[in-house]
Amino acid sequence: MKAVRVLEYGGPLVFNDVPTSTIARDEILVKVKSTAVNHIDLVKASGTVRQILPIDLPWIPGHEFSGVVDQIGSDVAAYAPGDAVFGTSDMGAYAEFLAVKPATIVRKPANLSFEEAASVPVASQTAWQGLFTHGHLQKGQTILIHGGAGAVGAYAVQLASHAGATVIATASGDDEAYLTSIGASRVIDYRAAQFEKVLREAVDMVLDLIGGDTQQRSFLVLKEGGHLVAATQPVSQEETARHRVSGVMMRLAPSADGLGRIARLLEEKTIRPDVATVYSLQDAAQAWKDIAGNLPGVHGMSLSGPGAARRRSHGKIVLRVA
Ligand SMILES: NC(=O)c1ccc[n+]([C@@H]2O[C@H](COP(=O)([O-])OP(=O)(O)OC[C@H]3O[C@@H](n4cnc5c(N)ncnc54)[C@H](OP(=O)(O)O)[C@@H]3O)[C@@H](O)[C@H]2O)c1
Repeated sequence: MKAVRVLEYGGPLVFNDVPTSTIARDEILVKVKSTAVNHIDLVKASGTVRQILPIDLPWIPGHEFSGVVDQIGSDVAAYAPGDAVFGTSDMGAYAEFLAVKPATIVRKPANLSFEEAASVPVASQTAWQGLFTHGHLQKGQTILIHGGAGAVGAYAVQLASHAGATVIATASGDDEAYLTSIGASRVIDYRAAQFEKVLREAVDMVLDLIGGDTQQRSFLVLKEGGHLVAATQPVSQEETARHRVSGVMMRLAPSADGLGRIARLLEEKTIRPDVATVYSLQDAAQAWKDIAGNLPGVHGMSLSGPGAARRRSHGKIVLRVA
């Protein structure tokens, strides 16, 4: 099968033939239609976090996909060849075939294209778990979402708004109309204003998808007893104690139940996906160049070197495989 691989830390992406994946009795072989690019793909491949997130080289990136069931193991009853599915994987979705456990996939909503479906699993579940599992967000509360127009942020805005919260988002000013259209009550242009200076009320929850100084300043806008949930770096427990709030760095724990819940919201059009660009699999290196300038910082560091161009449109970058 064709696949994109990283042969050495920091090395180029290589597109060529590799042996086709095989499945165990409890696995499903998916013929991948599309996969999507996540910051973590680039971060893991760079080797900068190899102490905490090691990869086995050569490594096929790709944590999410859509596709069609090609083969099922003898113990699998829930799916049959031909079923259209989408889901998450620990790795390996930048390839024509992928072996997965049934517990990581869900039937693809019929109203989503394969490209749209591949863009959903990581960002939507991160948003859901950030808001509700870790942030305990409730109807009537006010939330500040940093990076609201990003892939995770846009789901967080939609899900929080649907849950009956008042949503304030930080983003580039260009994204204001988009964010208002998906449920934000207020957008603060992070390039033009400091959110802690313009916010008039304290908030119940901050979802921090940016980190660094943005996280530091977030303590100033939280109500006592509020929750700070961070996706990119640990939260200082000294600061949480000082401000009498709770703070946690989340790590996505994907599940078929969680994705199934998201699938229903997509089917009933309560939330919608956002695909910015579709590349073919063999152009994955170009897709990575596009996203490198947008890395807001993972575990306190950023891969965007001097001159890295920022992507100016919101939405996910998808790779079309077949
Ligand atoms: N912990 C986990 O389990 C987990 C899971 C998924 C993702 N993540 C992490 O979450 C982060 C967000 O992911 P993503 O896929 O949503 O990224 P993304 O699609 O690239 O979005 C990032 C957004 O942040 C905006 N931004 C940049 N600097 C900002 C600032 N100072 N204030 C407010 N907004 C700012 C960008 O806008 P402009 O481009 O207009 O500047 C962009 O819209 C990444 O670091 C990713 O690695 C963590």
